[in-house]
Amino acid sequence: MADDLTEVHGTKQEQYESLLPQIRGLITDEPDLIANLANITAALKVQFGWLWVGFYLVKEEELVLAPFQGPVGCTRIRKGRGVCGSSWAEAKTIIVPDTEKFPGHIACSSLSRSEIVVPIIRNNSVIGVLDADSENLDKFDTSDQEFLEKIIEMIVF
Ligand code: SME
Repeated sequence: MADDLTEVHGTKQEQYESLLPQIRGLITDEPDLIANLANITAALKVQFGWLWVGFYLVKEEELVLAPFQGPVGCTRIRKGRGVCGSSWAEAKTIIVPDTEKFPGHIACSSLSRSEIVVPIIRNNSVIGVLDADSENLDKFDTSDQEFLEKIIEMIVF
């Protein structure tokens, strides 16, 4: 059984540095992918309080909604569509400071003002994405990218 997460209230860097080993502890030795994705989303939501954070996994040429925390999300996203589908198509992290200025942004929640999507790449293929949304403009930057990419590297698929 997992212990409660220890939340910290320092800088963003301090928050991630506290969270990363806790996430590693939560998922190490647990082989169930869905359980691990679920706990990662919960840990991120509790620490950062973002509007929405979750995973989409590639299934039969679409991104399909996987474990998440927040309001209900769009269930399926096609390659190249929205921020998630663009991150998949380009195989790179996309930071959106203002969702209204991203052409084709898919507004699962009208409250989302900024977003980051990090692709999950294994064997040179994108197999899913991690998506985080905030109610605030310009919430995410390259330090989020750096730490979220590290979290994704920990996951065994
Ligand atoms: N905004 C995303 C869709 C997913 S939701 O935000 C949960 C996009 O444009 O791909």
